[in-house]
Amino acid sequence: MSTDRRPIGCFDSGVGGLTVVRRLLELLPRESVQYFGDTARLPYGSKTRPTIIQFSIENTRWLVEQDVKAVVVACNTSTALALDAIRRKFDLPIIGVIEPGARAAARITRSGRVGVIATRATVGSRAYSHAIKKVSKKIEVFERSCPLFVPLAEEGWLEHPAALEVAREYLSPLKRHQVDTLVMGCTHYPLLRGVIQQVMGPGVKLIDSGEEAAGEAHRVLEMEGLLAPRGAVARHEFALSDVPGRFTEVGSRFLGQTLRKVRRVTHEDGAWRI
Ligand code: DGL
Repeated sequence: MSTDRRPIGCFDSGVGGLTVVRRLLELLPRESVQYFGDTARLPYGSKTRPTIIQFSIENTRWLVEQDVKAVVVACNTSTALALDAIRRKFDLPIIGVIEPGARAAARITRSGRVGVIATRATVGSRAYSHAIKKVSKKIEVFERSCPLFVPLAEEGWLEHPAALEVAREYLSPLKRHQVDTLVMGCTHYPLLRGVIQQVMGPGVKLIDSGEEAAGEAHRVLEMEGLLAPRGAVARHEFALSDVPGRFTEVGSRFLGQTLRKVRRVTHEDGAWRI
């Protein structure tokens, strides 16, 4: 069986995509990751489709230039609005986070009432509702945007009383709808898993779309003969379009390892350059 030592490319608007990287590394410890966080242009979730498509294509192009073997779109907003456009443009496996998360929700719900929390752009696209209903038309899906979760996660205010207050406000309609399963449909949100679970209560199953996407990445790499060979030593690199104060601290805490190689890229003529 063929193997490939090149890194997997992952991008997000900021620190959130590291929740996907963490799951990828747990599942595939031999794989190297080239990460891009578009911290200069975050948040994506309040932007329009053409902008999100343009940013997502630029990010993917940069990863492809770094010679990645596949791209994991570690951002629900980019997946919801730009996955098809990216797939049309680039000739390598591109893995999104929505279909895997939607399939897991459909599999896990018992009551047939599923909540989805995501950015405004993702909720507006109805991508999760469509993907869940593709599995079962009977499932009722209640979507809610939680835009303030993104700056809270970027700031590292993960257990702060303000985070709990915001979570109470955002999640109360979903509690009223009595969902038994809640998809964290933004890669930033698993950073706030503690407060989200606290507000929803222990009976509600939280789905981490990144965890499901890591499983999908594994399947795709295996099928395409792209897994790293036995004995390969993983080397990770992180690139940001701006250097926000807390990225390294929050990211390291979350990944469980110090983010060492954090590079800064700049934007020139519609493309990212080192
Ligand atoms: N983490 C991203 C997502 O999964 C987007 C956050 C943002 O930039 O608004 O949707």
